[in-house]
Amino acid sequence: MRLQHCHNFHDFRELARRRLPGPIFDYIDGAADDEVTYRRNTASFERCDLVPNVLRGVETVDLSVTVMGQKLALPFYCSPTALQRLFHHQGERAVAAAASQYGTMFGVSSLGTVSMEELRQTYATPQMYQFYFHKDRGLNRAMIQRAKEAGVEVMALTVDSITGGNRERDLRTGFTIPFRLTLAGMLQFAIKPMWALNYLTHEGFKLPQLDEHVDMGGRTVSIERYFTEMLDPSMTWDNVAELVRDWNGQFCLKGLMSVADARRAIEIGCTGIILSNHGGRQLDGSRAPFDQLAEIVDAVGDRIDVMMDGGIQRGTHVLKALSVGAKAVGVGRYYLFPLAAAGQRGVERALGQMRAEIERGMKLMGCTSITQLARDNLRYR
Ligand code: FNR
Repeated sequence: MRLQHCHNFHDFRELARRRLPGPIFDYIDGAADDEVTYRRNTASFERCDLVPNVLRGVETVDLSVTVMGQKLALPFYCSPTALQRLFHHQGERAVAAAASQYGTMFGVSSLGTVSMEELRQTYATPQMYQFYFHKDRGLNRAMIQRAKEAGVEVMALTVDSITGGNRERDLRTGFTIPFRLTLAGMLQFAIKPMWALNYLTHEGFKLPQLDEHVDMGGRTVSIERYFTEMLDPSMTWDNVAELVRDWNGQFCLKGLMSVADARRAIEIGCTGIILSNHGGRQLDGSRAPFDQLAEIVDAVGDRIDVMMDGGIQRGTHVLKALSVGAKAVGVGRYYLFPLAAAGQRGVERALGQMRAEIERGMKLMGCTSITQLARDNLRYR
């Protein structure tokens, strides 16, 4: 199977599966507990039908949106994800380059493997920087300051990871950073020599967002320990209000699901919320963001930018979320499998396919701009 044979999410996933050592594939593909929420995230779109209008003159279609103060050429962006250079040696650089080419926003994780400064300087498209709340308040302030100096456009505080999700595939393979693989996990690396060669012949693995604070190279702090020892489970709305004030710009909470929380987010001055369950990787059994979207948009959609991510694999999924009232949507595995499969070329191909699917879907729906997508054109089973 080759890149030119990849026409959709499933093809890219399969190519990634063939190229990656098993423990890394499972880290990307896996989710929490029984992975019920992971499956539901995509299934929820299938319970909603599109009802098209026809004969409306659709020769040109405008896919642009403005979200979190950023004008994007596309209504979807690349959600922040960790450890990208482990999936392909080009890592975040490939994703940022592809996002720039398509005029959309890319996320950078605080567990990213290329620095936010380098990405900000090299690629001219908006960057969302994702961070967690640390026990060390100085570190939180330093991170905000650093993002400000780097010129990051949008801050995203992830609030669905107050403790680590139970990812049983990772327990089975021993996937952790630094690696502490089980014997079966090690064998999986041995049978993927191309990945190993690329990994070993490119610049060493690091976490530049955290390197002053977490010494991965010296093997003193694993990601597991980062979550359990350095992040602060006592975080409250008051703490976040302070961060929002410090940042004084576009600030969203990622991983919020309830109406009550959406209202609190407005009260403390957030400009956006991302409905998300972390791609099913945290609280299994939690509701699919798409199922929860209408309730949230109805409650707060006129006062704050509502976004969502989780389970998006098709242009029609994006159209459905926008029709309910999301300002934009994020994709995670949708670009991660192409990254693992073929680096920048893979991500470009996937983003191009998504753009084409959205454009085709808009024409078939009888819409020429995103604002024309409305709930009138949706019916639920
Ligand atoms: C993630 N996600 C994530 N979110 C975040 O806030 N910080 C992070 O470091 C990561 N890392 C990460 C790694 C991997 C491998 C995955 C799959 C996901 C969650 C991500 O931003 C997004 O919420 C989900 O990926 C959306 O679900 P889909 O599109 O993957 O179904």
